[in-house]
Amino acid sequence: MPSSKSPKDFFRPLAVGAPTPPTEIPARPSRAIHFFDPSNEKMAAKIPQMVGSVDVLLGNLEDAVKADNKEAAREGLVTIASETDGLGGPDAKTQLWTRVNSLDSPWALDDLTRLVPAIGHKLDVIMVPKVQGAEDIHYVDRLLAQLEAKAGLDRPILVHAILETARGVANVEEICGASPRMQGLSLGPADLAADRRMKTTRVGGGHPGYLVRQDPVAEQPDAHRAIFQQDLWHYTIARMVDACATHGIYPYYGPFGDIADVVACEDQFRNAFLLGCVGTWSLHPKQIAIANKVFSPSVEDITHARRVVAAMGDGTGAVMLDGKMEDDASLKQCLVMVELAEQLAA
Ligand code: GLV
Ligand code: MG
Repeated sequence: MPSSKSPKDFFRPLAVGAPTPPTEIPARPSRAIHFFDPSNEKMAAKIPQMVGSVDVLLGNLEDAVKADNKEAAREGLVTIASETDGLGGPDAKTQLWTRVNSLDSPWALDDLTRLVPAIGHKLDVIMVPKVQGAEDIHYVDRLLAQLEAKAGLDRPILVHAILETARGVANVEEICGASPRMQGLSLGPADLAADRRMKTTRVGGGHPGYLVRQDPVAEQPDAHRAIFQQDLWHYTIARMVDACATHGIYPYYGPFGDIADVVACEDQFRNAFLLGCVGTWSLHPKQIAIANKVFSPSVEDITHARRVVAAMGDGTGAVMLDGKMEDDASLKQCLVMVELAEQLAA
């Protein structure tokens, strides 16, 4: 039977001494969340030079890190966080996130109990994979409260969930509202495709088989019929954006696995930006530049938005600009662009 309680009813006070999670998540730029494997020495050596050039660096402990390397990845992250200036913490140039192992794995508990005391003061956000429902967030939330209190941290660590199971998608609303620590959600298209038994083997992006075709022309049955490829991820991204907007947290696209196809990558990121996402994952340095470009409003968008704001005076009524009607609602759309531009320029 569905519960009549809202997820917030399950949120109990934090452990004595633990920092209080913010009621409003601070808007910090996070257009590209760049993934690195802290057990990979070559990759780890490049991290200090990347600080300041990307919004978020994420030490990945989950999928793509071999089982035998889980401990090395965790320890590598502790070393990198401790030794890299400007990475993580309230005044950092680049935020530090981690993706811990899933809660049903043998490693998640050790990830949290090792990282929070060691580098909790620098960890901005913990990304939790394969979240199924509010109960997963409650578990992480309570554990973080205890670990933060024990470590004497004065700033709460925020939580980001990956939407990558069918059950997670069904529960997306309650996941977003499960804790005031919730910072945002990302789409996990690879795991989600597998969990739903979709028949794509790609990591994100489109598929040439998922299309609509123009109707045949009766008098020319052999004539070329235009093909329009559709977006496999539209439904889930739109659901995620609505759930995040309802709860005042941030939606993100996820991984785009075809690193060589920068054109399709940019298209997929732009679709997500237009639908309301604030950022995406980057799996290769060249995807950082794409994400920074796509998830920043263009000069034309900002110029237009500022013109509408100026023309709308006190913000009520309607005006004509370049033959188009602008009113209170289109002003609000323009303010989204202006606020984002200001936040990115700050
Ligand atoms: C990301 O984790 C994905 O499964 O796509
Ligand atoms: Mg995944």
